[in-house]
Amino acid sequence: MAHYRQLGSIPPKRHTQHRTPEGGLYYEELMGEEGFTSDSSLLYHRGIPSAIVDAVPWELPDQGTVPNHPLIPRHLKLHGLFEGEEWKDTDAVAGRRLLLGNGDVRLSYVVAGAPSELYRNGLGDECVYIESGTAVLETVFGSLEVSEGDYVIIPRATTHRWVPGPDAPLRAYCIEANSHITPPKRYLSRFGQLLEHAPYCERDLRGPVGPLLVEQADVDVLVKHRGPNGVVGTRYTVPHHPFDVVGWDGCLYPYALNIKDFEPLTGRIHQPPPAHQVFEGQNFVICNFVPRKVDYHPLSIPVPYYHSNVDSDEVMFYCGGNYEARKGSGIAQGSISLHPGGHTHGPQPGAYERSIGAEFFDELAVMVDTFRPLELGEGATASEDGNYAWTWSGGRR
Ligand SMILES: [Fe+2]
Repeated sequence: MAHYRQLGSIPPKRHTQHRTPEGGLYYEELMGEEGFTSDSSLLYHRGIPSAIVDAVPWELPDQGTVPNHPLIPRHLKLHGLFEGEEWKDTDAVAGRRLLLGNGDVRLSYVVAGAPSELYRNGLGDECVYIESGTAVLETVFGSLEVSEGDYVIIPRATTHRWVPGPDAPLRAYCIEANSHITPPKRYLSRFGQLLEHAPYCERDLRGPVGPLLVEQADVDVLVKHRGPNGVVGTRYTVPHHPFDVVGWDGCLYPYALNIKDFEPLTGRIHQPPPAHQVFEGQNFVICNFVPRKVDYHPLSIPVPYYHSNVDSDEVMFYCGGNYEARKGSGIAQGSISLHPGGHTHGPQPGAYERSIGAEFFDELAVMVDTFRPLELGEGATASEDGNYAWTWSGGRR
């Protein structure tokens, strides 16, 4: 993000002495993207930020995937993934269940009630969508209070932890990229300001407050990173708590955008998904479908036409309202539909006709379209409703 922020204590000139009250030096860290040629921030630590005293493997939950074969559309029921009060001892990092993934992005789901350990993702940015509940996201940049409907963008290598709020559980849909996650380029001026036609602007983005100024010795930090066959983890022990930052400034930091602050674009006839785009990463986009007035041409059909996204796998996460085109399919709050490339999809039988004359859709869904095929993780296999593929025809024969 090109939007500059400043927090806490920083020296007037970058890369100059910044002294503690006792006369010592704070340690400056540049956190920057794309080899010093993209957005960055300067952080000032009490302790040396590169110091580690131990490193051991961190065994991640099952990251294995299997191909979507035979190729069929799939329905996952995420609310069945965590049983009873299992969430009370589950945290929003180690407790994630992998649903779908490829070499560009991994989608997982977690229901959490316990604080996570300190964590950072060394593969890429994360976009965590809060389906319900509240949490404080504590980070090296300060803390962010988040709640239902928030997209929380956490830049690669940002050390942070999730602390669920009192109205637990926290239900979170986690989009982990192997790249950066940004607003679409077409929403931005050539210098990075969100343009007038963008569905949100800088006022809608919430940055961290703080700093946290934690003092603690020998703290563990979990790091997710690339391994020989995919994603692996390392547990570091660091001598100074990473939240020892007294101040920072720059254009790289975690931030939140609430889905209610996304202003939908509508038209006389059907608006395709790019009109609903929120963010993009390498080889995928994130769109959302929010409550809105629908197509107002006198002969319009407000639900989508049948379509083949020949270059995409399309993943819809249904997180509120009642999704008009999916009525009669078993899809409800907490469902995911996967419509793979190479398969035509569209409204369930009857929905096409029924939508004529509708003026408003009360629906809330977050969509990820990937440009390479998605494979199924253990969370998909464990939550699949096997009937979905046959709901347009009335049954498998
Ligand atoms: Fe679609």
